[in-house]
Amino acid sequence: MPGPGGLVIAIDGVIGAGKSTAARGVAIALHYRHLDTGAMYRAVALAATAADVAPSDHEKLSSLLGELQIELTPLDKGRRVLLNGEDVSADIRRPEITRCVGSYADRPVVRQQLVEVQRSMGAEGGIVAEGRDMSTVVFPGADLKIRMLAELEERARRRHEEFVAGGVDITLDQVRTDIRTRDREDEERDYGADGLPLDVVEVRTDGLSIETVIEQIVELARLRGA
Ligand code: DC
Repeated sequence: MPGPGGLVIAIDGVIGAGKSTAARGVAIALHYRHLDTGAMYRAVALAATAADVAPSDHEKLSSLLGELQIELTPLDKGRRVLLNGEDVSADIRRPEITRCVGSYADRPVVRQQLVEVQRSMGAEGGIVAEGRDMSTVVFPGADLKIRMLAELEERARRRHEEFVAGGVDITLDQVRTDIRTRDREDEERDYGADGLPLDVVEVRTDGLSIETVIEQIVELARLRGA
């Protein structure tokens, strides 16, 4: 049942399948909010590394989490990520954060806290939530559950093009190896649910433009009353 603010749309999927761009595009098209949960895990990793708190230090990590305020500003306000009021949108994308975020995202104390915040953000509906555990753990009752998939080669090629366009000097081989490693980490991480819900719609994005993918998801959302 859609909430008063609209549907809850949960978008999961593999690394580099275009989840963020698709979620943002769908949110814009439907005038919904966009919940980038990866950005929240990144903000925790940034705060923890800045405070020198190791992922294994349960006590310090819990007390740090108690002090953190993570805000995602709305799309029309520039989609910034604020950590205790400070704009950290660029810092959370730094390569060293990308490398260590997985070890913080692995900690149950981190997941419990973020899952709770994410659920409260989605309580009203009218949200496109994107991550790894949206339809399995965070919003198992989501009105629309999407799983975005693409072959490794296509994901590596797209990511590489983005890096090159952004002036980053990296080879396609490096990008492919990095995605493969992160795929493995993702497979090994315990997101707290077994298997996929039966009503997940798989969207294969190989060979499709992101605009087409967004249109497909918006169409599915319209069929469900968006
Ligand atoms: O999608 P991303 O690269 O911004 O995600 C950053 C990290 O957070 C990555 O290690 C996966 C993890 N993550 C998670 O564990 N659960 C989510 N819902 C979203 C991201």
